Amino acid sequence: TGAPTIETGVISIAHRGAPFFAPEHTIPSYEIAAGLGADYIELDLQMTKDGVLVSIHDKTVGRTTGGQGEVASYTLKELKRLDAGHSFAGRERKRYAHVKIPTLEEVLERFGDSVNYYIEIKNPADNPGMEKALIDALKKFQLLHKKDKNGLPKVIIQSFSPSSLKSVQRMEPGLPLIRLFNEKDFASLTDDAIKELQTYASGVGLPYRSVTKKEIDRLHSYGLDVHVYTINDKKTMEQYIDYGVDGIFTDHIDQLLEILHMRQN
Ligand code: G3P
Ligand code: MG
Repeated sequence: TGAPTIETGVISIAHRGAPFFAPEHTIPSYEIAAGLGADYIELDLQMTKDGVLVSIHDKTVGRTTGGQGEVASYTLKELKRLDAGHSFAGRERKRYAHVKIPTLEEVLERFGDSVNYYIEIKNPADNPGMEKALIDALKKFQLLHKKDKNGLPKVIIQSFSPSSLKSVQRMEPGLPLIRLFNEKDFASLTDDAIKELQTYASGVGLPYRSVTKKEIDRLHSYGLDVHVYTINDKKTMEQYIDYGVDGIFTDHIDQLLEILHMRQN
């Protein structure tokens, strides 16, 4: 049986927080996104050498922190020495100097059930046990199978890895799971592949340039939600909302929220 679909209008997903206002994947970035009213803050989870889930996008620490090497080669203690604001080019860069890479638990501790979480499991093949660590943390903060006041699931889990999503489903059936595709993989998505996907996923996360209205309608005909990433201009946001997408990942959550509020009134 297919997993639950996310009955809603268009969900606004703050891609890596609010990366133009504060360094991506930091508590201040998530605070700004939450404060602006994003439906979801997006986390990209990886695991440290000593098994701690942290939110950072790249496999390596160089681009955002100016450090060297892979996230997985650092213990948490070593990772906490890096400056997650190092490469931030925003106006307030002084304010965010030496902001740290957050652990999943620190984010859940900080926000609790005041926000919704759209959590990507990254590079699961490198870190067996990520899925169980994620489920355990969500259990600890009592966020599993909860909905917010608008009926949105408090937690959506996403990954490019079908096996990772299937292991989440085995451990915790009924969670809304989103299967991510890059442009190449999506182009080859056959009907059979979609039928298989339906057995564990509520929907798909696609690069917006990969989908036309026709393909969105086709995916909807299979009962799948369609979330697109990463739209950073208002004209394209309007275009994909008109196409009927169910969610948009954006670095400019303020702009998307403006459009959605205008459309609701
Ligand atoms: O998770 C959706 C989107 O963020 C996937 O792309 O590379 O930004 O994590 P990426
Ligand atoms: Mg992501």
